[in-house]
Amino acid sequence: MNRIIKTVSLILATSWCSYAQAPTPIKVNAAQPVADIQPTMWGIFFEDINLGADGGIYAELIKNRSFEFAKPMMGWKIERKTFHEGEILIQNRQEKQSSNPRFVTVTLNNTAKGDLGLTNEGFRGMGLKKDLRYDFSVMYRTANKGIKLHLELLDANNAVIGSGIVAPSESDNQWHKATASFQATATEAKGKFRVWFEGSGNIDLDMISLFPTDTWKGRQGGMRADMIQKLADLKPGFIRFPGGCIVEGIDLNNRYQWKKTLGTLEERQLIMNRWNVEFAHRPAPDYFQTFGLGFFEYFQLAEDIGAEPLPILNCGMACQFNTAEVVPLDQLDPYIQDAIDLIEFANGDATTPWGKIRASMGHPAPFNLKMMGIGNENWGPQYVERLKAFTKAIKAKYPNIRLVNSSGTDPNGERFDYLNKELRAMNADFIDEHYYRTPDWFLKNAARYDSYDRNGSKIFAGEYAAQSDKTVSVDNRNNWKCALSEAAFMTGLERNAAVVQMASYAPLFAHAEGWQWTPDLIWVDNLRSYGTPNYYVQKLYSTNRGSSVLPMLQNEQPLTGQDSLYASASWDNASNEIILKIANTSAQSISREVALEGVKKLDPTGKWIILKNDNLGAVNTFENAIAVSPVEQSIAVDTKKKKVALNLAPYSFSVIRIKAVK
Ligand code: AHR
Repeated sequence: MNRIIKTVSLILATSWCSYAQAPTPIKVNAAQPVADIQPTMWGIFFEDINLGADGGIYAELIKNRSFEFAKPMMGWKIERKTFHEGEILIQNRQEKQSSNPRFVTVTLNNTAKGDLGLTNEGFRGMGLKKDLRYDFSVMYRTANKGIKLHLELLDANNAVIGSGIVAPSESDNQWHKATASFQATATEAKGKFRVWFEGSGNIDLDMISLFPTDTWKGRQGGMRADMIQKLADLKPGFIRFPGGCIVEGIDLNNRYQWKKTLGTLEERQLIMNRWNVEFAHRPAPDYFQTFGLGFFEYFQLAEDIGAEPLPILNCGMACQFNTAEVVPLDQLDPYIQDAIDLIEFANGDATTPWGKIRASMGHPAPFNLKMMGIGNENWGPQYVERLKAFTKAIKAKYPNIRLVNSSGTDPNGERFDYLNKELRAMNADFIDEHYYRTPDWFLKNAARYDSYDRNGSKIFAGEYAAQSDKTVSVDNRNNWKCALSEAAFMTGLERNAAVVQMASYAPLFAHAEGWQWTPDLIWVDNLRSYGTPNYYVQKLYSTNRGSSVLPMLQNEQPLTGQDSLYASASWDNASNEIILKIANTSAQSISREVALEGVKKLDPTGKWIILKNDNLGAVNTFENAIAVSPVEQSIAVDTKKKKVALNLAPYSFSVIRIKAVK
């Protein structure tokens, strides 16, 4: 008898869990929006890391075009039949032109094509495209007539796949610019560029440059269109720029200084990229910042793709993982002035000194800068005292500019707690939180912001990415497990849009042969680019943002991992749609009904976008760039009972859009 009772109760218990009672439906109430979702909510983080700018988005093909790398001939090879001492000479005019001191002097003596030349290897080769026109330019100075430069595009085997010629027209021994354009006759991922010299006498050369003409918006000397298109497709709310640790520099000398990124290219003083030497296991001795992509181009890019600019400035402190140098407080003024001047550069009219410079660069209208970050991953009382000085001066002149403050490198721990307290006491506009953590951390933290003060400082999740191995490990992969955990976590960001007003995955780009840090949102080689599963998660959020958060509850609780489900909902004013986002992080399909309350009428058919893969280790590659990518289908809506039935695939992230009348 006892055994029978036990068996029956076991059956009942099992049935209760799995079959007998349907799970409580999830309820979404469209009539009770709880917070606005800011247009800035989902943005992008750009840093010149992993060949993000030079060798990446900045489309210049010549590496070390002005011979300013630490080793002046890095990237260049001298081609010669016979050796003549000093025929290629690096000159340094430091005293006269400190922003671009070096140039090369070539001495010719009845030289014929094929006798003496220079070959540039590009950034891990050059991506060349059949039938595309390439624009060559060079600064030259000569007192001799009749010198010619024979220009050649080479494939990986040194076969010529495009050629042109430049015959300098001026021989007044002054600097001039010469240009030539020519087409590639073949596509090559590992191309090179060679110039052969012909004639007699000396010629000085500098700023040897080669650009493809299929740049973003066809701008001369512009950016790689396929990479920018990937950003534009995200419809980002903002662009954080220029980083990242690059803001801080290894030491203060190596910090990012926006004023040095303006004007003509030869005026922009190159510096070593801090990622050049950061990781002994990923050395990048040829990584420098030419600033061809400088602050003007940054503002222009933000405007092009409809994103708010969010520049991050040095706060008078170098990277605390490196030298940890600080500028003495009584010498902080120039740093603060840089911040104030940047606002004038962006917003001042053309009669202001910095507004005039912006106008002279081709943009008389203001860029409408509204916010700015002071410091990247800085911490400690030394940060707080510098930040206070910045805040006081900036707010005195520009009270409407909202400032982003750093909470350090980690989302918890002593440093974080100290800064969190200090910044909230200062009434910080935005606190910038960073988390490079395991997928598990992301799942466990889906409710992180549920308890944050609604009336205090707003949160900028300024850098985050799930790490499949551990932070800074070369084994980190952009796999589906990481992306799915981010998707689940981001339901918590959206649900808490009252507090979290901006978020950006980091880093953004990585060159397959030139990266220092992984994982990254978009991978590129010299010709191709692809979005990772993480990219598609970001895109699903940013292109399905909605205007206000709706409560989405099961048993009166938000879904933050119950039965492996994570969910949030929003209402979109523009399209009159309810937007549901649900991650199922389990290996099983899960069925749920979602009751849609607070609506008078629903469309019978909704749109269901699903990102899924049975394999949590799945990644996208150049060969299969869409292995993990969204697929779209329709979903039937029960318009009478005002509900939808969902069968959520294992390891899936769903976005569902349903038109409604409220
Ligand atoms: O995104 C890579 C680096 O991670 C950033 O430069 C820095 O801010 C963070 O530590």
